[in-house]
Amino acid sequence: MPVVRFVREGRELDCPAGTNLRELALAEGLELYGLKGRLGNCGGCGQCITCFVEVVAERQPGALSAPTAVEIKKLRRRPETWRLACQVLVLDSVAVLTRPQAGRGELEAQLETARLEPLPEGVIAAEPEEISDEL
Ligand code: FES
Repeated sequence: MPVVRFVREGRELDCPAGTNLRELALAEGLELYGLKGRLGNCGGCGQCITCFVEVVAERQPGALSAPTAVEIKKLRRRPETWRLACQVLVLDSVAVLTRPQAGRGELEAQLETARLEPLPEGVIAAEPEEISDEL
């Protein structure tokens, strides 16, 4: 099970492969949006362009689903490491920075640590216990 390291929040969350990154963050009460997005966002349709995240590290290339056509069009003028959380499926462990456009300066040490610290393979599902016939 992949792990998503949210650098700004100092949280690591595990999730099943294929989880939508926006839904994961919101389910855990993490703030994805700046003021504009909080006042009104598209609810995950890829239209408002307010759910930016920066991909800080991937356990391996392809840890996130490929950019969608919406992202390719809407993120033309943004850094290549930025994604729209609502368009991203988590396939392997990653580290991300929410709201990369806000308050980066004070996060440089955390970002550097997140880049260098190996990402876990993820939580391995526990083996089912063997059922004994003995009574
Ligand atoms: S929530 Fe609107 S673009 Fe992602």
